[in-house]
Amino acid sequence: MKALVIYHSKTNNTKSIAEIIAKQLKTEAIPINLLEKKGRGTKEEQEKEKELFNDALNKSKDFDLIIIGTPTSFQKAHSKIIRFVKAVECLKVALFCTYYNKVGTTLTDLEDILKERKIQLVTSYAFDNLKSGQYKELDDKKRKAYFIKAKEFTRKCISLFNK
Ligand SMILES: Cc1cc2nc3c(=O)[nH]c(=O)nc-3n(C[C@H](O)[C@H](O)[C@H](O)COP(=O)(O)O)c2cc1C
Repeated sequence: MKALVIYHSKTNNTKSIAEIIAKQLKTEAIPINLLEKKGRGTKEEQEKEKELFNDALNKSKDFDLIIIGTPTSFQKAHSKIIRFVKAVECLKVALFCTYYNKVGTTLTDLEDILKERKIQLVTSYAFDNLKSGQYKELDDKKRKAYFIKAKEFTRKCISLFNK
């Protein structure tokens, strides 16, 4: 199984989880946004993000499983991840999100899009209790707990891939 991780992240939480998953699968974790961008960003930054989005879309075609990660924003997935899920060309997808305490329809909206597009959902998971930028401030014990959850999610992706 060739898997690729694609994510959106503003304050590193989703990125950190994406990188754990990618490492377990010996693959890359690719962002579709620039973390360092402030507000809407400069014209150059917006162009670069378009490029990242399109490169990730193109690259997805070469993999058996695309694992997509999003932060929760006002109880929904990030709008660019919604656009990505509407456009991705692949047969199987696994989803994860990070959130603080109200996940809302973050994952279920994406699951509905996959269903409509007849793309198989392998599994999905919501990593809770993360305030903006909190992952890098966590103590070792709490960080380890996320590491274990991310490893478990990865194992599920592998074991359910062939079902
Ligand atoms: C503008 C904004 C809106 C957010 N909305 C929610 C929300 O509705 N529910 C929730 O539980 N967390 C919410 N959060 C928290 C983020 O989803 C959470 O911190 C996430 O892990 C951030 O991921 P990132 O660091 O990869 O960007 C919000 C954060 C921001 C900045």
